[in-house]
Amino acid sequence: MTNVRLLILLVALITISECKKLEEVKQTARKFPDGFLFGTATASYQVEGAWNVDGKSESIWDYLTHTNPEAVKDMSNGDIADNSYYQYKRDVEMMRELGLDYYRFSLSWPRILPTSFPDYINPAGIEYYNNLIDEMLKYNIQPMVTLFHWDMPQKLQEMGGWNNPHIVDWYTDFAKVAFEMFGDRVKYWITMNEPYEICHHGYGNVNLAPMLNLTGVAEYLCAKNLLVAHAKAYHLYDKMYRPSQKGKLFITIQSPWFEPENEGETETARDIMQFDLGQFAHPIFSKNGDFPEVMKDKVAAKSKAQGYQRSRLPEFTAEEIEMLRGSSDFFGLNHYSTHLVHRNNGDTVYAQPSNYDDMNVVTYQPSDWVASATDRNKVVPWGFYKLLMWIKEEYDNPPVIITENGYSSLPGLDDIGRVDYYRGYLNAMLDAIEDGVDVRAYTAWSLMDNFEWLQGYTVRFGLYEVDYEDPERKRTPRKSAFVFKEMVRTRSLDNNYEPDTTEMTIDEDK
Ligand SMILES: *[C@@H]1O[C@H](CO)[C@@H](O)[C@H](O)[C@H]1NC(C)=O
Repeated sequence: MTNVRLLILLVALITISECKKLEEVKQTARKFPDGFLFGTATASYQVEGAWNVDGKSESIWDYLTHTNPEAVKDMSNGDIADNSYYQYKRDVEMMRELGLDYYRFSLSWPRILPTSFPDYINPAGIEYYNNLIDEMLKYNIQPMVTLFHWDMPQKLQEMGGWNNPHIVDWYTDFAKVAFEMFGDRVKYWITMNEPYEICHHGYGNVNLAPMLNLTGVAEYLCAKNLLVAHAKAYHLYDKMYRPSQKGKLFITIQSPWFEPENEGETETARDIMQFDLGQFAHPIFSKNGDFPEVMKDKVAAKSKAQGYQRSRLPEFTAEEIEMLRGSSDFFGLNHYSTHLVHRNNGDTVYAQPSNYDDMNVVTYQPSDWVASATDRNKVVPWGFYKLLMWIKEEYDNPPVIITENGYSSLPGLDDIGRVDYYRGYLNAMLDAIEDGVDVRAYTAWSLMDNFEWLQGYTVRFGLYEVDYEDPERKRTPRKSAFVFKEMVRTRSLDNNYEPDTTEMTIDEDK
């Protein structure tokens, strides 16, 4: 054997052993960074119930599920949901069992402001959230509060909801009430949950309330007004409340990862990343602000060709662009899955005009990817890594809080699919952290099963199972709850940990 060959062999051997070592690290426990925080999340309409109790008025989800029950897969609704309005102490007990640092929940606007406006602040609504917050703080669990998680007051919807530019003031008034009532104890505020889903699935389509299906126009109006409302609430907090309350405020954007089907589709993937995540992130986190260039160009060109007098994508004023730039203390990220993309060469017919037609991209998931109980939510951990790296590159490494990540199953306590999902995604997240992404906290969706919008109770996202036959809505920890608990306790991820699931306890010394 020549020396050169020997050298090559040696290098190869060293490389193999290095890879093995890495493998071993991943096989055993991987540490989370110092100060890394863990939480779980829910949202008001999905868990609270008590839909018409103590002065609460109707939200768009009450209205939709009562007037159009067929829209929901099992014709169910959130009238009772998890009964958390009455069971909040048990919810906090579960947070203690898991050893959480924080819990993310949302405020029901029509519970706090039954007229939609601050002319009347409902004392029972305030009391409910005070009780929940105080119960959590008693055990050192920080509240992370989402101001808007989809349950818009029905009255405001009848006035256009996010399509009426006055929503900017209405929303800011609501945010002000929340800061005044709870800001002494709440240090993490999220302005909006998943703007793309709100606007595109609710206004530009029929996948969420209010199911307007005003394709190609309403979703863009919604996007603009929602973003401006976010920015206005940010600056209100920043100027009036932050100096004394010293909290953080940010927006939460849901994004899949879009992977080009092949090298020829790189630009296609870029387009959809900018139309989807970029639509809401670019105005806030990019250097220049405003909607992404590629989105402005494509919607303007299509609109022109379709005979519109102006682009269907409304413009921000220069003042709005400035107000939006930098208006978020963290990049709040919800993530579930990944899609392959290719250019639409006429193989898919989209409504015209529409967001899908404007970007002209086809997305799909190969049939051999691991499925979950929800369509289009296949298990693709590497996509999470790529998405986090993309955010780092695109927006100059903002501090990120994962505000949702989770897996849907059918009912059952032995949820090995969920355990595998969390292990896969958390390993991918740790890979991204090792490669420089500044992730500060991780939130599992969800603490417990809950009303999954138009899927009703047919799919389950909970670490705890909820018994919907039981009037008390008994909660029982799944296997994944025990695995999550151990991860939080040890601040490390052990792929081989096998929990003893006989009894869930509270570690009092935490
Ligand atoms: C939504 O609107 C498009 C036209 O823009 C139409 O083709 C489609 O059938 C509508 N969907 C529903 C469920 O009404």
